[in-house]
Amino acid sequence: MSVAAPDWGEDSRFYLPNEDVSVLRTVMRLFRSRVQRPVFVGGSGMALLESSAILSKVETVTFVDLAVFQLDYFERLQCALRQSASPGELQNWFVKQIIPELREHFRRRGLEFTPGQVLLALKRRFNVGFFFDERPFDGVRKLLPYIITKCDDIVSYLARCGTHHDFIYLSNVPDYLPPPALNALASACGRHAAPVYLLLTTACADRDSVIAVFDAAGFREHPVNEQLNARNRGLGSPTLNKTWNRPGRIHLYVPKTS
Ligand SMILES: C[S@@+](CC[C@H](N)C(=O)[O-])C[C@H]1O[C@@H](n2cnc3c(N)ncnc32)[C@H](O)[C@@H]1O
Repeated sequence: MSVAAPDWGEDSRFYLPNEDVSVLRTVMRLFRSRVQRPVFVGGSGMALLESSAILSKVETVTFVDLAVFQLDYFERLQCALRQSASPGELQNWFVKQIIPELREHFRRRGLEFTPGQVLLALKRRFNVGFFFDERPFDGVRKLLPYIITKCDDIVSYLARCGTHHDFIYLSNVPDYLPPPALNALASACGRHAAPVYLLLTTACADRDSVIAVFDAAGFREHPVNEQLNARNRGLGSPTLNKTWNRPGRIHLYVPKTS
């Protein structure tokens, strides 16, 4: 029995990440020279942009999300990046165009955030640098011509896409997948024989079975996992005392054959 998935794109919207993107940046540094065709569960798209900007040579960077809202939002973010000449201009766009919408979305859910709190969380909690610093800002803008977006379920996308992806970011999607979809996801990842980054939180009904299906699909935990979890200050962090947080664990898997 799995936990009911949130109403993605409606009740649950990602205007910014809920994960510590610096952990993903650390992982991308490990694979910096090898990864050229990463695929990400999109959400806000900021984890994709910030971490892929580290890669030395990309062919494609693929954003997959099943919520139309997230694809539209990511298109707006990319458009703002193209039209901004500096991190400051991008921040102005975010403050003027996005934060009022974000605040209204959360106000309807009884949550109140000031613009200052949102920007501070973006910078300090989720470690998204391209809104604040020139270097990541330039790096992210260089990525834009390589970005591909797909409105799709990540399980079926990975099972049938023609691209051989060499890095797969699943975020905490496995938290909400029932056992048949979990099996399909692990074997679809096995099809690409690529490193897989995922997060399992207390929302996941049976974490041991997720670990078992990835083991059965030919994956082993990367030795850096303890370091990544010790570093995590976002979703899944055992020390983060926020209503939206659920303690959990980051799993970086690599094919047993690698
Ligand atoms: C799992 S979280 C990812 C967000 C991420 N934590 C972040 O920090 O940006 C939620 C996102 O995953 C998307 N999602 C959930 N299940 C999915 C699935 N099976 N396939 C593709 N996208 C999915 C939701 O629409 C939502 O945008």
